[in-house]
Amino acid sequence: MNSIEEAFGVYIHWPFCQSKCPYCDFNSHVRREPIDEARFSRAFTAEIAATAARVPERTVSTIFFGGGTPSLMQPATIAAVLDATARHWRIAPDAEITLEANPSSVEATRFRGYRTAGVNRVSLGVQALDDRVLSELGRLHTAREALDAVGIARSVFDRYSFDLIYARPRQQPGDWARELKIALAEAGEHLSLYQLTIEPETPFFALHEAGKLRLPDEDTSRALYDTTQEICAAHGLPAYEVSNHARPGAECRHNLVYWRAQEYAGIGPGAHGRLDIGGERHATATEKRPETWLSRVETRGDGLVTDEVLTREERSDEFLLMGLRLAEGIDLARYADVAGRLLDPDRIASLHAHGLIETTAQGRLRVTLPGFPVLDAVVADLAA
Ligand SMILES: C[S@@+](CC[C@H](N)C(=O)[O-])C[C@H]1O[C@@H](n2cnc3c(N)ncnc32)[C@H](O)[C@@H]1O
Ligand code: SF4
Repeated sequence: MNSIEEAFGVYIHWPFCQSKCPYCDFNSHVRREPIDEARFSRAFTAEIAATAARVPERTVSTIFFGGGTPSLMQPATIAAVLDATARHWRIAPDAEITLEANPSSVEATRFRGYRTAGVNRVSLGVQALDDRVLSELGRLHTAREALDAVGIARSVFDRYSFDLIYARPRQQPGDWARELKIALAEAGEHLSLYQLTIEPETPFFALHEAGKLRLPDEDTSRALYDTTQEICAAHGLPAYEVSNHARPGAECRHNLVYWRAQEYAGIGPGAHGRLDIGGERHATATEKRPETWLSRVETRGDGLVTDEVLTREERSDEFLLMGLRLAEGIDLARYADVAGRLLDPDRIASLHAHGLIETTAQGRLRVTLPGFPVLDAVVADLAA
């Protein structure tokens, strides 16, 4: 992995989708009326200006258009947002600029338009390679359409990734192994593999409560996870984070900004940020409802509803929680710097004795392969 230099990321949230998937609790909305993109573009520009006034003089190393479905945005809107970013901050010449795309909203001309606007990486939500499963997941595309979209991404961008969801109802390790191998044959340098999570207030949650969604039991889930790790590592895409796999050096630099507890601005409805102002770290969040966010930005200049200075305790917990998701783990000296104290040596020794963590000669602490399936417990123990 690259050396860990300072980074500044910009996240831009597009809150609309063509339809709402029954498992998803992201801030995404379906609208019958066409979206006024010019109005959104002006609001994004205003919020970028307001944020840059608080944290000026930054060099942007990564930009991420997430959603929702940012591939529903016109390339001209993407170009306008990137122009605004470049007017208020410096964009590093090698900046990673990612756009999340849904395979049902992909066409080659649009992708070329995004590339011309400055996007240099796409991440596609493929989710599954089985049409029956895709329909159960409420997806609007078939497996063929998803793979065609991956093909278009490959022909237009040097860097692309796609997402799959596993540990789905009735899924067995053998089926998943076959599906994953097909996916890996289509993959480039990066793949995100998420275990299905049943999120409160989603239709899947209600189905699950009603006993109508039979999820894999604990042993099957563990076997699915182990299968994922083995097959991806054998294919040269080891996990660099709990759910993310990449060829070494091809990690998503934007997501590394979050996990390494670096600085980022959150722009758009329901976006979160971490800004370093006057030696303090601010946790920011904007209004989630798209239309309310728009009017808030239009009247006040930004959509902020939360702007809190994190305490030392909160910062160090966050550093631990995010950093231990990474295979590279955390730098113990940086932890001591953030927390103002060392991690408890007795707890480290005990987790070490159980084979759940290890420390490196370079002074890093990381979770071992057997430790990852019980990551939450490891973090809770260290943070206690
Ligand atoms: C914000 S979505 C962006 C992609 C795009 N909107 C799409 O669906 O194609 C990011 C990814 O989160 C994953 N995801 C969303 N809800 C999930 C859930 N409940 N469990 C597991 N993964 C989930 C999906 O793989 C999805 O592609
Ligand atoms: S999974 Fe993607 S397309 Fe589906 S509702 Fe969530 S953000 Fe929208």
